[in-house]
Amino acid sequence: MIIAIDGFSSTGKSTVAKRLAQALQFIYVDTGAMYRMVALVAIREGWVQDGYLDEAALVNHLPNISLDFQRGPQGENLAVLNGEVVEADIRTMEVNRIVSRVSSIPAVRRQLVAQQQRMGQGQSLVMDGRDIGTVVFPQAELKIFMTADSDIRAARRLAELRTKGDASVTLEEVRSNLLQRDAQDQGRLDSPLLQAEDARILDNSHITPDEVFHRALAWANEVLAP
Ligand code: DC
Repeated sequence: MIIAIDGFSSTGKSTVAKRLAQALQFIYVDTGAMYRMVALVAIREGWVQDGYLDEAALVNHLPNISLDFQRGPQGENLAVLNGEVVEADIRTMEVNRIVSRVSSIPAVRRQLVAQQQRMGQGQSLVMDGRDIGTVVFPQAELKIFMTADSDIRAARRLAELRTKGDASVTLEEVRSNLLQRDAQDQGRLDSPLLQAEDARILDNSHITPDEVFHRALAWANEVLAP
């Protein structure tokens, strides 16, 4: 069984996806982390300069990029790039600024979508992203599309960045980055962020994470045992 959770940036997709996966004993796959790892490679290799991305260099390098996940000591999901845990390095504003651009490159999408589809072979999973219900698993048994008010999303994301030690970032910077990423994700030609016709909408603006989880779990149980 595949549960696909798509939606705008910072709408709480990964929070609910992780809890669902734990409750149902499914694997959780954070596809945003995969695009973030590719963006991190571009930054580390010096292919991002003043907002310009050397797309050709990155695409040539794709065969050398290996993306994986492992469990941390508290059971948390850790992103692993070529054998190195990069969980903290991929959650920075520097990565936020370039990741939508990286994720709009068709060759990048082809490679990551193929890997995501392989992950779904023979095992049940909860996968979150932007194109899971439309492109990666159009046959997913349950599709959820998450939204939330942009001011609320920005405030939540700012609090998260502050907890991680980024004291310099402002609310306005976070908000404008979110809106810019939404626009870029919706506007790209290759598999844009789109609500699947058969997705159930979950607006996370004014409900608690517990309520979001219970609503999603009820939907999953409906599908598992109709
Ligand atoms: O979910 P996130 O914020 O970690 O995702 C980071 C970026 O990756 C986001 O701006 C859009 C892109 N992305 C995508 O294009 N397709 C996915 N399936 C997941 C993420």
